[in-house]
Amino acid sequence: MSTTALPADPPIQRTRLTDEVLAAQAAYILRGNDLGSMTTAAPRLYPHMWSWDAAFIAIGIARLNVGRAITEMDTLLGAQWSTGMIPHIVFSDDDAAYFPGPQRWGCGTLAPAAPRTPATSGICQPPVHAIAVKRILETAHRRGRAERQAGEEFLQRAWGPLMRWHRWLAEKRDPDQTGRVTVHHGWESGMDNSPRWDGPYSRVHVRDELPPYQRMDTHVVGDTSTRPSDREYDRYLWLIEEMRRVGYDDAQIRLTSSFAVEDVFTSAIFALACDALADLGESTPGRSRDVRDLREWAGRFRAGVAKSVDPESGLARDRDVRTGKWLSSQTLAGFAPLLCGGLDRPAELRLTELLDSPQWCGHPALLAAVPPSTAVGSPHFRQREYWRGPQWPVMAWLFSWSFAERGWPDRAAFLREEGLKLIGDGTFAEYYDPLTGGPLGSANQSWTAAAALDWLC
Ligand code: SER
Repeated sequence: MSTTALPADPPIQRTRLTDEVLAAQAAYILRGNDLGSMTTAAPRLYPHMWSWDAAFIAIGIARLNVGRAITEMDTLLGAQWSTGMIPHIVFSDDDAAYFPGPQRWGCGTLAPAAPRTPATSGICQPPVHAIAVKRILETAHRRGRAERQAGEEFLQRAWGPLMRWHRWLAEKRDPDQTGRVTVHHGWESGMDNSPRWDGPYSRVHVRDELPPYQRMDTHVVGDTSTRPSDREYDRYLWLIEEMRRVGYDDAQIRLTSSFAVEDVFTSAIFALACDALADLGESTPGRSRDVRDLREWAGRFRAGVAKSVDPESGLARDRDVRTGKWLSSQTLAGFAPLLCGGLDRPAELRLTELLDSPQWCGHPALLAAVPPSTAVGSPHFRQREYWRGPQWPVMAWLFSWSFAERGWPDRAAFLREEGLKLIGDGTFAEYYDPLTGGPLGSANQSWTAAAALDWLC
């Protein structure tokens, strides 16, 4: 992998705001995106609630108001399917502003397991929710008695829904017990157009029966080259069409979907989330069977992630269920084992050294030493294109949080500092050009503001 792909554009000049001003601006953004009982992922591009966004957003909101953070999680859990799945979008009333909206998904009429209300999408996203609950409760415990009690009451009512969500992932998305969660859409990974999915998507054949559609996202962002391509969107919509045809039935989707990939990053998050939930359940009588299941899943998925490591590169890999082949790519998902642990010491050392190396965070052209979504030296690297290169502050938050949990405070603090270099001028963009520092995608992105708040307050 080469380290010499240097930028043509000069770095953008940035003024670092004081921590107080930055935190105040982050709070202002979250309040501006607040619809009352849900916070939109971003004001115009994403005018609804997204599942993993909501969890990160709630972590940030908790720094301002624990009760409001709990409401965010309650709204999300209120949209859970009877199967246990937490849908990746909970739609607000602003139906016209986003595509594909409730009509196109058709879950209300086609999916017996979907709630009648609110309207939702028919797929899931990475299960960061228990991590959020743990973090919100930590914040609540540092506050007064009222917040602590609100936190405990929330955990009491959220426990059942969270257990059902985790059980659904462990059983329906890993029926063969590989220790890796299968996803049936790039959107389920949260990393829509990552090079990780290029191979599996090349095997998705869009048929003529795909009903016509019009994208909305490209009308919202100024530079459409920072979004997935039309060809990619055709495939995204075709996969939804396939799921509609089987009424979003889990077993049928597993058999019929053209896209079935064991997602190593989602699996690492699941292992982390199982342990986070087990930690929360430990002290409550009557939860010991649940805690045992959670620890077992955490162990299974940690081992599944460790097993995926490519002996040549040291990076974790996804696996295409349809071909049975491992998928190698130079993306930040390769560092999944550093999130959840499970490697032996030499393999872990090798992976941390790779993360710090000039191939990744130590690349001389990076303005902030935060892992880019795709390695700068990868032939698939595109510095402005969504998950094909840009740096996502919320990913820096996730690695920083998990490094702290793993007992690596210096690494956690370093990533926080570097992450704040991206957003420290108050841009709060969805993602950033790693070579110029230019803000990309949506402005006023809620989870970026939330990451800043958790770091600063
Ligand atoms: N991330 C997708 C979008 O861009 C949907 O989950 O709309």
